[in-house]
Amino acid sequence: MLSTSRQFLLRSRPKGPLAYDDLELRDAPLGELADGEVRLRSTWMSIDPTIRIWMSDVPQYLPPIAIGEVIRSIGTAVVVASRHPDFAEGDAVFGLLGWQTHPQGTPEALSIQKIAPGVDPTAALSIFGMTAGLTAYHGLVDVVDPKPGETLVVDAAAGTVGGLVGQIGKILGCRVIGIAGGPEKCAYVTDELGFDACIDYRNEDVGAALDRLCPEGIDVCFENVGGPIFDAILLRMKLHGRISLCGMIAGYDAHEPVPGPYNFGMILMRRLMVKGFIILDFVDRFPEAIAKLGGWVAEGRLRNRVHELEGFERLPDALRLLVGGQAPNLGKMVVKIS
Ligand SMILES: NC(=O)c1ccc[n+]([C@@H]2O[C@H](COP(=O)([O-])OP(=O)(O)OC[C@H]3O[C@@H](n4cnc5c(N)ncnc54)[C@H](OP(=O)(O)O)[C@@H]3O)[C@@H](O)[C@H]2O)c1
Repeated sequence: MLSTSRQFLLRSRPKGPLAYDDLELRDAPLGELADGEVRLRSTWMSIDPTIRIWMSDVPQYLPPIAIGEVIRSIGTAVVVASRHPDFAEGDAVFGLLGWQTHPQGTPEALSIQKIAPGVDPTAALSIFGMTAGLTAYHGLVDVVDPKPGETLVVDAAAGTVGGLVGQIGKILGCRVIGIAGGPEKCAYVTDELGFDACIDYRNEDVGAALDRLCPEGIDVCFENVGGPIFDAILLRMKLHGRISLCGMIAGYDAHEPVPGPYNFGMILMRRLMVKGFIILDFVDRFPEAIAKLGGWVAEGRLRNRVHELEGFERLPDALRLLVGGQAPNLGKMVVKIS
């Protein structure tokens, strides 16, 4: 008889990369299931860079995770017990489950929705995931509206959002240049995802490579990284270029405010449109994105690998690896819990 749920709680706010002492691992007692509640068994956790932001108390778009609170995270699960009329034992679901093996509560509190039978649960976190495919679709199509023939540059291109952005850019008729760390990632970006070129920022001068690959400049940038890569892009934007500011992962582990971008003045000189977005802004339009993404998957035009680590205790490692600058992932990083 199940009586506890393993959980990671935030013990202290990380000062730099996440340290094990910043978290507390505990077995929390599970109470009786109340009327209207469900009990879940977590199956996969989505490892998202934003979890590292939520662990800090910098100004952000949601309340930071409180000290002593379970680490907030999207994940998939199976219903193991239900006292709610809409959910039955065995249903596969996704939602805001947190780093715990057996989330329990009302469907509203856990923000759960069912995953259709036969659908691979990791697809609900990757191609169709809010922080993956949906972010790529809305952040590209709605924020910067790329046109056929335009040059699109996207960094963190071997990751889940960047890899999907570039492929959608190709579907929309753009010339797509990726930026990623290392030859293996660049080969994945060009050979498997079909980008026109990929710059290996660990081994190449990004500015010189952009000059060679985008001699007339960049029409559209989808920005995931920030730091020196973003500065090199800013210098090479065309007049009236558009930038979708999705993330600035290079600064998420920083304990002090990160200086830059140093070429901020290019926004003025080139009359750029720079727009930040958070995927929660587009919730009402998710059905449109899911239909589009599903169609492209069915046509074989969109792909995304899943990089899986195994075991609940690997969750902190997975987040540290993703944000820490030596990320191993091609595609979406997940942790298999059970
Ligand atoms: N605005 C939104 O609503 C929203 C939603 C989801 C995600 N995002 C943002 O989108 C970005 C990508 O997220 P994701 O989930 O798709 O992660 P991901 O790209 O799958 O993984 C993160 C990648 O970032 C790269 N990276 C890490 N540190 C770096 C550094 N210091 N410099 C350059 N690259 C670095 C790594 O690739 P390399 O090995 O190539 O460096 C890593 O694989 C993040 O900035 C995230 O915060 C925003």
